[in-house]
Amino acid sequence: MYNKLMGCLKSVREKTDFVPEAAVVLGSGLGEFANEIEIVDTISYSDIEGFPVSTVKGHAGRFVFGYVEKTPVVIMQGRVHYYEGYPMQDVVLPTRLMGMMGAKKILLTNAAGGANESFKPGDLMIISDHITTAVPSPLIGPNIEELGTRFPDMSETYSKRLQTVIEVCAKELGIEMQKGVYVQFTGPNYETPAEIRLAQTWGGDAVGMSTAVEAMAARHMGMEIAGISCITNMAAGISKVQLNHKEVQETADKAAGDFKKLVAKVIVNM
Ligand code: HPA
Repeated sequence: MYNKLMGCLKSVREKTDFVPEAAVVLGSGLGEFANEIEIVDTISYSDIEGFPVSTVKGHAGRFVFGYVEKTPVVIMQGRVHYYEGYPMQDVVLPTRLMGMMGAKKILLTNAAGGANESFKPGDLMIISDHITTAVPSPLIGPNIEELGTRFPDMSETYSKRLQTVIEVCAKELGIEMQKGVYVQFTGPNYETPAEIRLAQTWGGDAVGMSTAVEAMAARHMGMEIAGISCITNMAAGISKVQLNHKEVQETADKAAGDFKKLVAKVIVNM
């Protein structure tokens, strides 16, 4: 795996020598943000040898390199999901690659279902912690010693400092935030009402199919992590309506204005 990562890094370095300070992963329906920064370079995932390429509509699938004010960032416009059929180690390859490009901090974003009944669609949630019990760890397999230790600590996966940065930025923008625990399921099916009750008993506030494993891989290699969920729908069984991807995208679109302002401000201040 480390050789594969080094191969991908070489492929990136043949195209750009840009060194990001921060990495950003844009979730479903939130990818528009990358088009608004001062772009220096882009690389399609399909041009990186060995890179897992996403198949989901609405996931553009490229790295965007550039500046948000003075901060050099690499943005993943489109991510790779476990439900597409990749081994979990491939799912977190892009996260690790951004760390290897030089990013010391990472802002992870996603569209998620609200399991906390006080949430409403369109809310933005600061991720305070996560639960990955329902998905395999991306760290299973031989440890990549070059990146981190065999048994990494996860007691502060989402940096308290960065949670405060998000809070302060949101306040200055007049955006109300929720805060809570993200529970990852495999997808691609949405959860059953019974699974949502399980997530609630576990202490979960939002459910999704992506972010927690990326956070685990980023933490393993010592990156400082921030996470924001866009609550695009109430999770199964909470609202009476059936779930569909269109609703998820429409709500993400509606929240995109606030979301983009917040992400830009967080990047500058993280
Ligand atoms: N469940 C899982 N993932 C999701 C959801 C959901 O309800 N909404 C958006 N992503």
